Amino acid sequence: MISFSSPELFRARWLQSDTNYLLGGGSNTLFLEDFDGQVFINEMRGIEHAESDTHHLLRVAGGENWHALVTYCLDKGWYGMENLALIPGSVGASPIQNIGAYGVEVGQFIASVELIDIQSGKATTLNNSECEFGYRDSVFKKALAGKTLITHVNFALPKTYSPVVSYGELAALDNPTAQQVYDTVIAVRKSKLPDPDELGNAGSFFKNPVVSVSHFERLKKAASTIPGFVVDNGVKIPAAWLIDQCGFKGKTEGGVRCHITQPLVLTNTGEAVGNDVVKLARSIMDTVRERYDIALEAEVRLVGRNGVINL
Ligand code: EPU
Repeated sequence: MISFSSPELFRARWLQSDTNYLLGGGSNTLFLEDFDGQVFINEMRGIEHAESDTHHLLRVAGGENWHALVTYCLDKGWYGMENLALIPGSVGASPIQNIGAYGVEVGQFIASVELIDIQSGKATTLNNSECEFGYRDSVFKKALAGKTLITHVNFALPKTYSPVVSYGELAALDNPTAQQVYDTVIAVRKSKLPDPDELGNAGSFFKNPVVSVSHFERLKKAASTIPGFVVDNGVKIPAAWLIDQCGFKGKTEGGVRCHITQPLVLTNTGEAVGNDVVKLARSIMDTVRERYDIALEAEVRLVGRNGVINL
């Protein structure tokens, strides 16, 4: 494992081998076997602050811890990102899958992302629209996948605070302070999601699938309680519901458990190895496909001997 604190150090070592893997905080990655090459960890640190009339402007190094940044901003009175409290991982990884929770996605606050091209060493800055943010998606998972190092993320946090309380448990809060939103999000997460420091897991294992309106209507006829949320390209269905209905919730196979309070999360009860997780994940995918004609897509990044693998 090679940690680096500057892009120059990173690039010098990166070019020494052609089998490399760049890890963020590692919280959304599952190694299925020993990776046959060098693994790099971004340890670049630093938070710079400036302000305009309307916004707090932050330039944050990619190696900073995400939750620590959210807490730091709250303490400073720079509000907006409280809904994203307690998400594990690094700041540099946050734009890649456009981390999101409780009605907010990080892309809403990102003004630009600074990166270097891994091969040429050329530095570039992408503005918000060039990042192509979508649900658990961005240009860094598509055209730029594996090609760049995110060195800094530039955030713009509006000075006018307007809490986002659209999500279930937050809706009970009446005009809350940012601190109350932060505390509630942490309490909700702790009640549903297992702490990765105590019970190995990588958060939601699958993305919530989006189906066409006609597909959703067909499903609704057969199962009237199916939840669905209309989005730009169809209807988004909670994968947790599908997995729950298929009877996996709380089930353990080969040391891997489908979490009891949130079946979208697969946990390691102690002895499981990567391929045990894949086995249960495949079994879930097959059952959901057979029963609902929906192809679940892994949200966790799987890495094998030679690099990223698709399920
Ligand atoms: N549900 C069940 N059974 C359960 C639990 C949930 O049927 O046991 C159904 C219910 O219909 C519930 C729905 O699933 O209303 C949604 O559950 P939840 O509110 O927990 O959210 P989610 O869609 O499963 C997403 C994110 C989470 C994020 C929460 C809150 C994805 C893949 N996951 O989960 O993100 O914390 O919303 O906003 O979008 C992560 O990415 O690692 C993560 C935890």
